[in-house]
This record gives sequence, structure tokens and C-alpha cells, in this order.
Amino acid sequence: MGDFAHTGWVKFPYDVAVAQWADHVADRAKDVAQDPVHCANWLRSGGTWFVGADVLGNDAQGRVNGSAKLSGQGADFCANQMGGIDDWGVGQISICYPNYPLQDADEPDASFRYRVKRDTAHLDGLKPIGADKRRFYQEFHGVILGIPLSDTPPDAAPFVIWEGSHLIFQDMLEQAFNDLHPDVWADQDLTAIYQETRARIFETCERVEITAKKGECYVAHRMALHGMGPWRASAEHSERAIAYLRPYWRGDDLLNWLHAP
Ligand SMILES: [Fe+2]
Repeated sequence: MGDFAHTGWVKFPYDVAVAQWADHVADRAKDVAQDPVHCANWLRSGGTWFVGADVLGNDAQGRVNGSAKLSGQGADFCANQMGGIDDWGVGQISICYPNYPLQDADEPDASFRYRVKRDTAHLDGLKPIGADKRRFYQEFHGVILGIPLSDTPPDAAPFVIWEGSHLIFQDMLEQAFNDLHPDVWADQDLTAIYQETRARIFETCERVEITAKKGECYVAHRMALHGMGPWRASAEHSERAIAYLRPYWRGDDLLNWLHAP
């Protein structure tokens, strides 16, 4: 288990309620991953990654496909981080297949190199806007909760996090947004400071791969640099599927989003 305050992530042990929830979602995941419309929207990286953003189909309490509401230590930890969660938001079902990543025909070489070399490391909510992909913070998530839908082998496109990066990014954001009203945060071009800070994080923070079994889950800090590693597992595994929930921080409380641990 990680030390969340310092590392920016924590993993929780097996919980039968989480395993049962994952079983319900796994049934839905099979359906959506074979649905031609969903595949047209979400199959990337040469067919080796079903992105599945917003396809979880959960309600505000995290019920999916006849499941109970989302519960367990991980969900409780998230609620504690955020001062309560009224709405989990619609989650993601991320499914990776052997050989991830392959290069899409329309994926620029530089993006593909970054995917391979740096796990497509990013900060959730910091959106690339326009043709020159200037970075603006436009979504204010509270946490990232990852719940495997089956036992995921290590090395099968694991969740990757740079330990301690959340503290460095929090510093960066406090400087960038200092004295600005939250209403104008989304208008601030953070491209230069983000790239400089991210380079420093690659230099100084440890890259850690997180894998978990069904019934376990993990939480990453809202400001942690994270991404997805390559598939290096043996071909006996056909896929790895993970549900991600990223509830939004309460919109009237963004000063706390900026400053809370
Ligand atoms: Fe992310």
C-alpha cells in the first residue's frame, strides 16, 4: 500500500463488494467492447486500446448493470479526499490488448514516441486545445479510482504514476492560479510551465507501475502525473480491463481543489 500524501497513490486490499461490482461491470464491458459504434468511437492505438471514456453507464452512486452502489475502502477514501461525493460521474472502461501500443495511421510520430517512451503521461483535466495543443485546465476532478474488472497480470499495460508528482504539480498550479479568481483559471495558458514542470518530474520522480487483482482497487491523487505503460505480458493473457472513476470536485469549492492535500 502506498503512502498517499507522499507518493500520490494508494492501493486497497481485496473486498468482496468491490469484486462483485467488478463482475457486474465486466459483463457490460464485454458488450460495449464488441459494439461496433463504441469501437468506432473508442478503439485506438492500432486496435490495441479501447479507450471507453464515459461508457461505464453508472448512476451517481456508482451502480452499474444491476450492481450495488460503489463501496469499499477505496470509495470511502475518495469521498474522504473530496469531502463527500454526490455524483461519481460516468466512468471509463479502459481495455488493453496484447502489443499495445501500435501506431494509428493518424497518430503523429512525436505522439507515438511519447506514448512508448513516456507512457502518454498526463495530468487529468489539463486539456490540449487547438491545432497547436495549448494546455488549459478545463476539468477539475477530485480523484482517480481504478478498479480492475479481472485479475490483471503485471506488465499488461499497467497504470503508471510518478511518485510525488502531485506535490510538484500542486506547487505549479498554486503559482499559476495565485490571485486569480477560479472563474478565469480555465483561461490560463499553462503550456510552458506544464512542460517545464513535467520535464522536472521525469528527472526527479520515480516511475511506478500499479497492478491489482479483481476485488482490489487503487486511488491516484487528482494532480498526479500518470499514464499507461506498454503491454509486455505474455500472449496467454488476451486483455486487461479496468474501470476508472473520476468524480468532479464540487464546482463552488475550487479553492479547496487547489489547496487541499
Ligand atoms: Fe488520466
